[in-house]
Amino acid sequence: MPEKEKVTNDLALLQKIDREKLPFHVAIIMDGNGRWARQRGLPRIVGHKKGMDTLKQIVTCAHELGIGVLSLYAFSTENWKRPSLEVDFLMRLPEEYLHKELDRLIEKNIKIMVAGDLSQVPERTRLAIEKALIKTSGNTGMVLNFAVNYGGRSEIVRACKKILSFILEGRYSEEDITEELLARHLYTVNLPDPDLLIRSSGEIRISNFMLWQLAYTELWFTKTLWPDFSREHFLRAILDYQTRERRFGNIQAKAHGKLHIDEEG
Ligand code: IPE
Ligand code: IPE
Ligand code: MG
Repeated sequence: MPEKEKVTNDLALLQKIDREKLPFHVAIIMDGNGRWARQRGLPRIVGHKKGMDTLKQIVTCAHELGIGVLSLYAFSTENWKRPSLEVDFLMRLPEEYLHKELDRLIEKNIKIMVAGDLSQVPERTRLAIEKALIKTSGNTGMVLNFAVNYGGRSEIVRACKKILSFILEGRYSEEDITEELLARHLYTVNLPDPDLLIRSSGEIRISNFMLWQLAYTELWFTKTLWPDFSREHFLRAILDYQTRERRFGNIQAKAHGKLHIDEEG
C-alpha cells in the first residue's frame, strides 16, 4: 500500500478508537519472523532484524495512544532449543535495540521492565538490560515490559519457591497464600493483568506466555507475520477489543474496573 494511503488508513482507525476504553495493558506474542525470511529465501535472522523495526513502530504507536503497559514476548524458555546461530543473534538484539533506542525511551518517560530469568542470558545482554532498567526506573509513563528467557510455567514454579522460602522463614502462614500473594511473586509483580493479547503469524496458541496473567485477557490473532505487522494491525486489534463484552464470569459486562449492574442487577 502506498505510504500516503497507509497514513490515511491509520488516521481513520485512530479516529474510531474510544480513548476512554483503551486497554491498559497490551501483551504481544511477536511471531513469524522466521517464516517471513524463509518466504523471501533469506536466513531466519533477517526476519528477526526486520521484526525489530516492527517492534520500534509498535512501541511508538502504543506510547502515542496512551497505552499503560506494553508487554512484548521476545524470547521464551523454549527458544534455547533453536540452532545456536539463531539463539546468539536473538540474544544480541536487546543490546542493539537499547543502544539505539534507550535515549528516546527515556525522553518519552517510558519505564522498562523485564519478565524472565536474566541469569542465563549472555553477560553483555544482561548488562545492557540492567542499565536500561536502572536508567528508566524513575520514569512514570508507559511501562515497556520485555519477556526475555520467559516461560509462564517456570514463572509460576519460581513464585511457589519464593513463597515456600518465606513460609520456611515463618514470614507467611498458610492463610496468607492467596491468588493476590502468588501474583505478587510473579515477574509482573504489581502490573495489572493484560487486557488484550495480540499474536501475529496465524498460530492460535499461547506458547507458555503469561499463563497466570492471561486468565481473563481478550485474545486477538492475525495471520500477518510480525515483520509485516503495522500500526494498522495494532489499531484494528484495539478497535476489536473495544467491541468485546468482558464479563469475568459475571452475567454483565465489566468495563474499566466498574461493574455495570442496573437497579435490578
Ligand atoms: C518470533 O518469530 C521470534 C521469536 C520466537 C524469538 P519466530 O522466530 O518464531 O518465527 P517463526 O514462527 O519461525 O516464523
Ligand atoms: C513464542 O513463539 C515465543 C516468542 C514469540 C518469543 P514461538 O515461535 O517460540 O512459539 P511456537 O513454537 O510456535 O509455539
Ligand atoms: Mg514462531
